[in-house]
Amino acid sequence: MQLRSMTAVAMVVFSLGLLLSPHTTSAHNITHILAKYPQFSTFNHYLTETHLAAEINSRETITVCAVDNAGMEELLSKHLSIYTIKNVISLHVLLDYFGAKKLHQITNGTALAATMFQATGSAPGSTGFVNITDLKGGKVGFGPAENHGNLPATFVKSVEEIPYNISVIQISTMLPSASAEAPTPEPSQMNLTSLMSAHGCRVFAETLLKSPAEKTFDENADGGLTVFCPGDDAMKNFMPKFKNLTADGKQSLLEYHGVPVYQSMASLKSNNGVMNTLATDGAKKYDFVVQNDGDTVTLKTKIVTAKITGTLIDEQPIAIFTINKVLMPKELFKASAAADTPAPAPAPDADSPEPSKKKKKHKAPAAADTPADSPADGPSDDFADSTADDNSAFSYSAGPVVAGVLSMWFFFLLL
Ligand SMILES: *[C@@H]1O[C@H](CO)[C@@H](O)[C@H](O)[C@H]1NC(C)=O
Ligand SMILES: *[C@@H]1O[C@H](CO)[C@@H](O)[C@H](O)[C@H]1NC(C)=O
Ligand SMILES: *[C@@H]1O[C@H](CO)[C@@H](O)[C@H](O)[C@H]1NC(C)=O
Ligand SMILES: *[C@@H]1O[C@H](CO)[C@@H](O)[C@H](O)[C@H]1NC(C)=O
Ligand SMILES: *[C@@H]1O[C@H](CO)[C@@H](O)[C@H](O)[C@H]1NC(C)=O
Ligand SMILES: *[C@@H]1O[C@H](CO)[C@@H](O)[C@H](O)[C@H]1NC(C)=O
Repeated sequence: MQLRSMTAVAMVVFSLGLLLSPHTTSAHNITHILAKYPQFSTFNHYLTETHLAAEINSRETITVCAVDNAGMEELLSKHLSIYTIKNVISLHVLLDYFGAKKLHQITNGTALAATMFQATGSAPGSTGFVNITDLKGGKVGFGPAENHGNLPATFVKSVEEIPYNISVIQISTMLPSASAEAPTPEPSQMNLTSLMSAHGCRVFAETLLKSPAEKTFDENADGGLTVFCPGDDAMKNFMPKFKNLTADGKQSLLEYHGVPVYQSMASLKSNNGVMNTLATDGAKKYDFVVQNDGDTVTLKTKIVTAKITGTLIDEQPIAIFTINKVLMPKELFKASAAADTPAPAPAPDADSPEPSKKKKKHKAPAAADTPADSPADGPSDDFADSTADDNSAFSYSAGPVVAGVLSMWFFFLLL
C-alpha cells in the first residue's frame, strides 16, 4: 500500500516533468484508428487484450496487417491462450512502413519484413519474418517466411495510412505460423530464474537463487513484477564488489533490481520518473530514476546509469528486461565510486526533477561501512565499460534495429 501511494506521488511529481519533456509519447492510436471500422472489432479487441496496442502506439514506421472478424473467428476457434494469441497477432505487426503503393512496388517483387513477434524475442531462431511478394494481376501475397514461400494471405485494401508512422492494411486471412501458435506458458508460472539463465543473465539468476531475495521476487510474481537483470558480463565484473557486501547488503542489491509492479516496455517508454524497488524500505530509499533517451530507456541511480538492452518477457503481470550495468544504489555505494566510470551520461540527477536532489548519500544500516570505499582502481571501470549489449539475440533496441537492417538489406539487394 505504502509503496503504491509513494509511486502515485512520484507519478504526480513526474507528470510535471513529462509536460516539460521534449519526449513525445505516441503519435498514433491504433485502437482509435480501428474503432471506425466495425469489421475489425475483434482484431481491435485483441490488440487491447494482449497489450499489443500500447506497443504499436509506442513505435513509428510500423504496419499493422488486420484481418476482419471472420478471420479472427477462425483463429479464436483454435482455443489458444491469450499469450499465444499475442504471439500470433504480433506476427501481423511489421516493423516497417508498407503503404499500398510500396506494397505494389516492392523491388524485384519480394521482401522479408521483420515483425513484432520476431522483435520481442519470443520467436525461435529466424522465424518471425513475413514474406511479402508481388503476384500476378496486381495481387500482393503474404506468408510467414518459415513456410518457405507459401503465401496464403493477400492484400485486400489499405485501411489507413499516416506516412511514415503507421500503415494499417487489411489482409485476407491470418498468417498461419506453427511457431507463433506454439503453446506459451502463463507468465506467472514461468520459472523466472531459468528464463534469465537461458537468456544472458545466468550469473544474476544463480546469485539470486542463492539469496533470500529470490523469495521476494517469487512472492511478487503473481501481483506484478518487473525485473531488470544485468547481463552476464556486467554481473561478472561486479562480483568482487558484490562479495564485499554484507548479507543484508547483498539481498538489498538483488532486490534493488526488482520493481513490485508490472511495467511494460511501452509504459517505461512513456513514463519518466522515480521507481521504487523491492529493496525500498522507506521514502526515497533504494529507488532509481527511469529516463527515456530517444528510443533507449535508462535507469539512473546516483552512482550509475544503466541502459535497457533487451526484453526477456513483457507480459502482464511480469516483465524482465536485461540491462548493461549492475544498478548500484546510493545506500550501498559512495557516489565517488562512479567518478572513475567513463559513463557517457551526465551527472545522474542533472535533469531529473527529483525533489530531494541534495540529499546526501545515507548508508542503509544493513550496508555497514564495508563496501562504501570502493577504490578507484576497482573493477568499476570494467563493468562501466561493458556498455556493449550483453544479450544480442534478445536485445530490445538492437533487435528491431537488426531486423530493420536485415529487411533494409533485403530491399537494398533487391533495388
Ligand atoms: C509521425 O510521428 C512523429 C513523431 O511522433 C510526429 O511528430 C508526426 O506528427 C507524426 N506524423 C503524422 C502525420 O501524424
Ligand atoms: C486510444 O483510443 C481509444 C479509443 O478511442 C481510447 O479509449 C484510448 O484512451 C486511446 N489511448 C490513448 C493512449 O490515447
Ligand atoms: C517469398 O515467397 C516467394 C513465393 O514463393 C518466393 O519466390 C520468394 O523468393 C520469397 N521471398 C523471399 C525474400 O524469401
Ligand atoms: C527454478 O529453477 C531452478 C533450477 O533451474 C530451481 O532451483 C528453482 O527452485 C526454480 N524456481 C521455482 C520458483 O520453481
Ligand atoms: C572490499 O572491501 C575492502 C575493505 O573495505 C576494500 O579494501 C576493497 O577495496 C573492497 N573491494 C571491492 C572490490 O570493492
Ligand atoms: C534484383 O533484380 C536485379 C535485376 O534483375 C538482379 O540483378 C538482382 O540480383 C536482383 N536482386 C535479388 C536480391 O534477387
